[in-house]
Amino acid sequence: MKRLVLTALCVAFSCYGQSILDLDVISYESFTAEDPDAMATLRSALFEKGIVGVRGVPTYKEKIYRFIDAAREFSALPEEIKEQYAPASGDMFLGYEKGKEKFKRPDGKWVVDDLKVSYYGYVPDHPANKWPREIDLQTPFEEIGQLMSDMGKAIMEKIELLGPTTGISIDETPRVGRMLYYRKSFDSAVENPYWCGAHFDHSMFTTLLPAFYFVNGEQIPEPMEAGLFVKVDGEFKKVIADDPDVMMFQVGEFGQLVTNDKIKATEHRVHKASGVIERYTMALFFDAPMETLIHSTSELTADARYGGASGSPCTFERWREESFKRYIVK
Ligand SMILES: [Fe+2]
Repeated sequence: MKRLVLTALCVAFSCYGQSILDLDVISYESFTAEDPDAMATLRSALFEKGIVGVRGVPTYKEKIYRFIDAAREFSALPEEIKEQYAPASGDMFLGYEKGKEKFKRPDGKWVVDDLKVSYYGYVPDHPANKWPREIDLQTPFEEIGQLMSDMGKAIMEKIELLGPTTGISIDETPRVGRMLYYRKSFDSAVENPYWCGAHFDHSMFTTLLPAFYFVNGEQIPEPMEAGLFVKVDGEFKKVIADDPDVMMFQVGEFGQLVTNDKIKATEHRVHKASGVIERYTMALFFDAPMETLIHSTSELTADARYGGASGSPCTFERWREESFKRYIVK
């Protein structure tokens, strides 16, 4: 009750100096029944705020808990064991990754997200995936990933990111799943106050789980200062994502490019929690097929990653490669 009142107060004003984003959440039933009000909410949330939630996807809750348990089990393994599952060389990214991404701060300085740990795998499972032998990460990862994939794809079809309007089909393209583990921070984080700096996802669309927080192995509610922040109307606002039955969806840059700015990519970052708090979640990215060729007139074509002017050709493969080059620490 106390928490409900606090949330209500936070939504009405702002909390702890942070603005709160009023996350629009529709029910799974209203989505599948194509309820007109729910469809209108879905569209306005994604087109105006860049984020929407769906509550009550069947089997979601049990799969999310199984996945978080496995993510914690894997993260607790000794570092030398986890390192065995890091990509060997070249541009392959599947498996374990620790502190590999960098972000540009508003003052222009690039900083590394050194507390961010990931495990990447294709969904559905793929021969290129690598899985730990010590514990079963594969089953819960693939199970929750498939659910996130099915729901995200259904929403992409509904808002016409897929199908005749864009001409893009992802039936033959695997999703990219990413387990995320944000390590506890012992310092006051002057250099980088974020677990993950401000950025846009480079693919078409993203499904997100709410995050789970732990102190000394005990789950705690999401701290008010921490978590996902989304930029709306020029300001980063905190997304209150404390319901484990809600799946969230955001827009990626290639979604913006292919629609010529009809929908905008979601700018977001993850604020650190103070103290010895760990955070677990998962993101699932929807790539276009590598050979997808667009002639976008989006404002994003001015970005050097696009490689030309408005209306010039660019493949998804190029956009992806150039994005990796910019944000991955060699
Ligand atoms: Fe992201």
